[in-house]
Amino acid sequence: MKIDYQEPSKDLLMRIDIHEKYGSANIDVWTNDLLKPQAGMSILDVGCGAGKLSFLFDDYTKGQAKITGGDFSNELLDKARAKNKERGSKIDFQFLDFNEKFNFEDNTFDLCTSAFAIYYASDLKFTFGEAHRVLKPGGRLFVSGPLPENKQMFYDIIKEATNATIPPMPGSSRFKGDIFNTIDGIFAKTELHKFENHLTFPEVKPFIDYVRASLGEDRRLWTSMFNGPKEYEALIGKIEAVATRWLERDGKLVMTKVVGGILATK
Ligand SMILES: C[S@@+](CC[C@H](N)C(=O)[O-])C[C@H]1O[C@@H](n2cnc3c(N)ncnc32)[C@H](O)[C@@H]1O
Repeated sequence: MKIDYQEPSKDLLMRIDIHEKYGSANIDVWTNDLLKPQAGMSILDVGCGAGKLSFLFDDYTKGQAKITGGDFSNELLDKARAKNKERGSKIDFQFLDFNEKFNFEDNTFDLCTSAFAIYYASDLKFTFGEAHRVLKPGGRLFVSGPLPENKQMFYDIIKEATNATIPPMPGSSRFKGDIFNTIDGIFAKTELHKFENHLTFPEVKPFIDYVRASLGEDRRLWTSMFNGPKEYEALIGKIEAVATRWLERDGKLVMTKVVGGILATK
């Protein structure tokens, strides 16, 4: 199944910023506690975007791991490379399309990670097969993504505002089922971990910023719900009206991110 999806850097960075500003828990701490990347390791971060996870591991290992970040968005790779330069880090950011053969030898990496990305793969067996191939024996794969119960309140508000069917999200609809099972079928050992982050919005504006950074036409995930900029603005207006009612009723808007982390060993 080909998934038509793009991630504009402004939307991705907006969502990351909102998670950090309004969240109660820190996903970076959870990730590091789970993986404990070590100096000397070879790490591949697939769908690295602007480099969030790659920089996290670089900080954690004090620049002593050999990190490669791969993404198919040149816009995001440019952002990552600019930050790499600014920090004086030695991460290798390079083009990688996870629907194609990875450009690495067999048994190259100790750790292969992918945060909120690789589950958009068209052929899960092929892509996770590639991750398995490039890992060393005993190497680990870590894939994070939304669980089905993720952001329930966000979807409830959109449902109440529109009465429309929410398009299936490639991540949350497949994470526990297809994605976990595919990895489990390829790797020797597979575990599912869970992370929860309550985002508390004291006003409607940051919630709507989050909605805009999720539903934007360029991401192509929500386009069944609107046709062109006029309909998009009308849709946002309806969502804003419901969010305002909920805020008046409850005094705040609380959206819980429920994230799964699949950790597998080759
Ligand atoms: C939600 S972003 C996550 C980025 C980053 N891992 C993070 O945590 O900030 C999803 C990423 O997957 C990338 N992506 C989507 N399809 C891809 C593909 N076929 N090959 C490589 N990267 C892809 C997008 O460009 C984007 O950077």
